[in-house]
Amino acid sequence: MNKNLISLITLMSIGMAGPLTAGTHQLDIQTAKPGAQIQPTMYGIFFEDINYGADGGLYAEMVKNRSFEFENPWTGWNVTGKVELRNDGPFERNPHYVRLNYSGHRVKHTAIENTGFFGISVKKDETYKFSVWARVPEGAGDKAYFEVQLCDQALDLNQHKIAAAKIEVVGHEWKKYEADLTPFETCEEATLRIFLRNAKFRKPGSADDCRPLDLEHVSLFPAKTWKGRPGGMREDLAQALCDLHPGIFRFPGGCIVEGTDLTDRYQWKNTVGPVENRPLNLNRWQYEFDYRFYPDYHQSYGLGFFEYFQLCEDFGAEALPVLNCGMTCQYENPIEGEATYHVAVDDLDPYIQDAVDLVEFANGDPSTTWGKVRADMGHPEPFGLKFLAIGNEQWDYEDNPAYTKRLRRFVDVLRQKCPDIKIIGTTGPDSEGEKFERLQPRMKELGVDLYDEHFYRNEEWFLSHGLRYDTYDRKGPKVFAGEYACHGKGKYADGKEKKCNHFETSLYEAAFLTGVERNADVVWMATYAPLFAHVKGWQWRPDLIWFDNMRSFRSISYYVQQLYSWYKGTRVLPLTMAGKPVAGQEGQDGLFASAVVDEQQNCVIIKVANTSAEPQTLNLNLLQKKKAAQFTSAEVITLHSDDLDAENSLDNPTKVTPVKAPFDPAQREVEIGAKTFQVYVFCR
Ligand code: AHR
Repeated sequence: MNKNLISLITLMSIGMAGPLTAGTHQLDIQTAKPGAQIQPTMYGIFFEDINYGADGGLYAEMVKNRSFEFENPWTGWNVTGKVELRNDGPFERNPHYVRLNYSGHRVKHTAIENTGFFGISVKKDETYKFSVWARVPEGAGDKAYFEVQLCDQALDLNQHKIAAAKIEVVGHEWKKYEADLTPFETCEEATLRIFLRNAKFRKPGSADDCRPLDLEHVSLFPAKTWKGRPGGMREDLAQALCDLHPGIFRFPGGCIVEGTDLTDRYQWKNTVGPVENRPLNLNRWQYEFDYRFYPDYHQSYGLGFFEYFQLCEDFGAEALPVLNCGMTCQYENPIEGEATYHVAVDDLDPYIQDAVDLVEFANGDPSTTWGKVRADMGHPEPFGLKFLAIGNEQWDYEDNPAYTKRLRRFVDVLRQKCPDIKIIGTTGPDSEGEKFERLQPRMKELGVDLYDEHFYRNEEWFLSHGLRYDTYDRKGPKVFAGEYACHGKGKYADGKEKKCNHFETSLYEAAFLTGVERNADVVWMATYAPLFAHVKGWQWRPDLIWFDNMRSFRSISYYVQQLYSWYKGTRVLPLTMAGKPVAGQEGQDGLFASAVVDEQQNCVIIKVANTSAEPQTLNLNLLQKKKAAQFTSAEVITLHSDDLDAENSLDNPTKVTPVKAPFDPAQREVEIGAKTFQVYVFCR
């Protein structure tokens, strides 16, 4: 008898746990034949400043339009008395500031009030760090005075202020002044008021003792930020990212990388150095949908490239910056406008130099120009950048390789100047069709290391694409599934659109991901999109994590991503049912499954999604070598809801979450409920 056949029979007899119950689906898992390595980068996060994800979200600044640079410089501000806007301030790239002058009467106020992002939300007894750059204008004496207050206009007391500090400004040089504000009550919609005062900090007084005052970069942060960093990130939101254990972190977009015009494209060099001098940029999600228009949506770049790299380091994730390829958004600027909206190939040098300089910023020695910028920001050690994406959702036309002719120039220079960097191209906005089919082979011709695919698709698509990657070219570039989400079609019974990560769509994402895992030799990275959404300011849904100013919740899709990330294993194990991959194929009763081994933990992990409306009996046929040690512990993690439309929410953040239970490590026959995702973990 053929030797291989004997060993197969031996393996099978060891793995089999008695006769199969009728109707049982047997999953054959070759635990002794580990296949492709699962990249540490396999599951990650993609951050874009959409849905107030950065300003008003992860970036914990509470003052909107802190430098008076919005198109309407008074956006976010109420102004009383004699306030002037001036433009020769101390920060070259944010030149505006305000001058507060005596009101003209001893009882009238000069004051400015900021209303924050959907209000300034503060918690009782927590400390908030106020800061402002200020000076006394020349010729106006040496000292000026102001009082800063946190106010709750709905407060049922004889005052609005819930915290306050008095500040004396000395001299004509710009200096930073700081104060701690600790409110005595919680208020969701507080405002920050700054009153010009006289020397006794009482009424405005008279022109003699109420001096004019210049103010710039008015800022308020919670003292408690992620890792306690001053001017840092919102703790709960950063924690939610950290808890995903991301292996890769793509930033800063998305469409904002492209811009509507070349002037408002994302330029990383504008996002590093002192925050006060990072120039404001428009956010294209402000006007993208006129039915969800947010005229106040801008990018302060307080969350800039240094902070992104720092977060990557915090999370143990590889950084994956995306740079503009010399093209603006092609949806908004079809190729006819090429000369105006897209950079001519011969003029691409500054864009390519930005890419080379970014590698220097991330990895260069502090003696280099950009390495020094990083070191001056407090990180002399390199960040260890390995990946760089060029272009977001770009494409070629039949008669014009608009994207790839530009990408080629980046590739040529980067290969020569930054040979260790892996380059990521894109196959455009679609998962199939003309744009995708034109670009996919070109990625191979150009020799990029990976390409970025996007698919926001409905339930049917996710259920019918379980085999998507099984047929991919094994010799081409690797795949980065950079943006995906199952978008529910239609409406719930109450008429609400199915768009909020309800259980059913999350289950289908889990089912689809078994195919990603099975094909880990081809797919090296996968990131859900978008990541964040403010409940009062979203433009796009579904999203992975939702929040308001005080609270946040993790969607059911979040838990799917987390289960894949936590149980990603180190190598793929072949798993079949009647000899075929389990991908919701004909006769597979809506089952999707994949398996991995975690060689460090010595565990076998099996993921199964039952997308059918019936419970199913499975035989987990763990085929192992004769001498392999038996499993000593096992657990199953279940994600299920009887209500397919169930959603987590701010008020019920844990309505549907994974539930872990131990089970007998010798048990092989298991029941998986209808519409259920399970992760079985067997360890030695
Ligand atoms: O994730 C939202 C948007 O979807 C991204 O900005 C873009 O890349 C895609 O079209």
